[in-house]
Amino acid sequence: MSDKKKFTGKIGFILAAAGSAVGLGNLWRFPYLAAKYGGGTFLLIYLVLAVTFGFSLMLTEIAIGRKTGKNVLEAYGELNKKFRFLGYLSAVVPVIIFPYYCVIGGWVVKYMMAYITNSYGNAEPTSYFTTFISGVTQPILYLSIFLLASAIIVALGVQKGIEKFSKILMPVLVILSIAVAIYGLTVPGALKGFIYYIKPDLSKFSFQAVLAAAGQLFYSLSLAMGIMITYGSYMKKEEKIESCVRQIEIFDTGIAFIAGLIIVPAVFTFSGQSDSVLTAGPSLMFITLPQIFSGMKLGTLFAAVFFLLVFFAALTSAVSLMETIVSIIEDKFHLKRIPACIIVSVFSFALAIPSTLGNGIWSGITLFGMQFLDFFDFISNTVLMPVVALLMCIFVGYVLKTDVIAKEVEKGETFKSRKLYNVIIKFVAPAFLLLILGSSLISTFFK
Ligand code: PHE
Repeated sequence: MSDKKKFTGKIGFILAAAGSAVGLGNLWRFPYLAAKYGGGTFLLIYLVLAVTFGFSLMLTEIAIGRKTGKNVLEAYGELNKKFRFLGYLSAVVPVIIFPYYCVIGGWVVKYMMAYITNSYGNAEPTSYFTTFISGVTQPILYLSIFLLASAIIVALGVQKGIEKFSKILMPVLVILSIAVAIYGLTVPGALKGFIYYIKPDLSKFSFQAVLAAAGQLFYSLSLAMGIMITYGSYMKKEEKIESCVRQIEIFDTGIAFIAGLIIVPAVFTFSGQSDSVLTAGPSLMFITLPQIFSGMKLGTLFAAVFFLLVFFAALTSAVSLMETIVSIIEDKFHLKRIPACIIVSVFSFALAIPSTLGNGIWSGITLFGMQFLDFFDFISNTVLMPVVALLMCIFVGYVLKTDVIAKEVEKGETFKSRKLYNVIIKFVAPAFLLLILGSSLISTFFK
């Protein structure tokens, strides 16, 4: 592997990985879950799980990547021929997610532009959103812009593209989100929401809350998508994996926490001191928040900055997905980066079409009762990702043995959490992953 396919150093690696981790999940799901499961109580549960469960899984992926120096398709096979299938299974995940992530990224671009050019005006939020996403030309145009932006960054390479952009976008994202949160908290009435968000409500502690936190954490750290294996393979041997993982987690959790500071108080002020309109996902971001912005002083400016930061968060996540696929194509077909990027772009664009048209003219076509976008989301997030992570734990804990991972970590530093890591990979993480898989399957089919 040429030196250009390595991050230049620790900061570049951490910011690129944090760029992947900080995504839509931090912004549109974490605040909702935190508010639902008892504010401070949820934050505490999340923190405990982050430094144990999340830490161990992320460390494993990065170490596998760095040890093998291979893309995700080949990494598992390199360690053990019998587990080659796991590389293939993992590689399917970004291939499925990237196209529909571009569809949603396109929505973000549309809203960002609408607020920057002040063309959103006094539109009625629900019909504005549904009219837009059910169209043909506009959503395709915006998804193409988002896809092209990701493709350009990936085509520029690991150092000149991914690392360079992460080094600019991630610090800007932190500053913007802090600024937006501070402004939001000065709005009269916001304090009540702030207190609701951070004060532990122990009566809401439940097993369900623990499971929700684990599921969110798992997604938020971009695990089981091959991403951390790919980025790990670009890490230099002398770099300290354990401390990098800690810093990526601080970054990811910090932004999720700030997102809650922006969203929960705003929703409280808007809805008259309750969390009744707080939802998760697209309806929060593209309907509820625009409703709130329209009633705010300097609402358009606030919204423009907010969607700009959402755009940065989504873009760096999309880049990590695309890089994971591109690195496979480059190696498998011995292609240069640019042709590989073109192939992945064209293929992903084609796959994105059903996801976007499923919201409009193709809404009559469903798979297991789901529209295309929801179906792709279901297969990747609910089924494949927990299965991949579970198999990875079984493989590392019982076949490869955790010592191999520990050795890789110790190339850069003494592995401080080695004992804890062993227990988590062998027992705790598999149990959690099984529960995550089971509970999300149940909630999909027995709503
Ligand atoms: N970690 C991202 C988030 O929290 C999830 C993600 C990453 C999704 C990369 C797709 C690609 O939103």
